[in-house]
Amino acid sequence: MTDILVSLYKLDETPKEIDGIAIRRPMPHEKGPLKRWVAAKFGEGWGDEFECSFKAHPVTSFVALRGSRVVGFACYDVASKGFFGPTGVLESERGKGIGTELLFRSLVGLRELGYAYAVIGGAGPVEYYLKILDAFPIPGSSPGIYPGKITVD
Ligand SMILES: CC(C)(COP(=O)(O)OP(=O)(O)OC[C@H]1O[C@@H](n2cnc3c(N)ncnc32)[C@H](O)[C@@H]1OP(=O)(O)O)[C@@H](O)C(=O)NCCC(=O)NCCS
Repeated sequence: MTDILVSLYKLDETPKEIDGIAIRRPMPHEKGPLKRWVAAKFGEGWGDEFECSFKAHPVTSFVALRGSRVVGFACYDVASKGFFGPTGVLESERGKGIGTELLFRSLVGLRELGYAYAVIGGAGPVEYYLKILDAFPIPGSSPGIYPGKITVD
């Protein structure tokens, strides 16, 4: 897993419409069910990071909704300042542009906070990010900021 550096100053800010999908920031009163959904679909750690996005105003996360049903999420400025992630889209909804739109809106959010560059920490699908962004892998960034797993007996 490597970190990726993303230029924000050349970002295309135009939001894209995706058929049947609404993308917006969650409201504070929606935190509980959304956190449980992220934890159930993508693991407890990502649920905890998603919860941290509610420390800020505006909230530093987005959700993608099909009607009232959540199908994806993305967070930024959570694990470390200037970081994008975690993010995830339901398997049944992948390949429709939802993940990319969640990513772009989050990067715009980081730019509005004053960052010139963002970091995608421990990027999973590196090829995907390098393909769609003005971005570069950061040499020596693996394992990055994440320490080894804690064991609780
Ligand atoms: C990464 C993720 C959020 C993308 O969501 P999505 O809604 O499918 O994304 P989009 O539809 O906007 O874009 C999909 C594109 O990315 C490509 N892509 C997705 N995962 C990829 C991977 N692991 N490697 C290379 N390309 C990948 C798809 O092939 C597709 O390309 P195309 O537009 O040329 O067809 C989704 O695959 C996901 O939830 N993955 C599991 C969680 C994860 O890895 N999160 C990222 C952690 S940093």
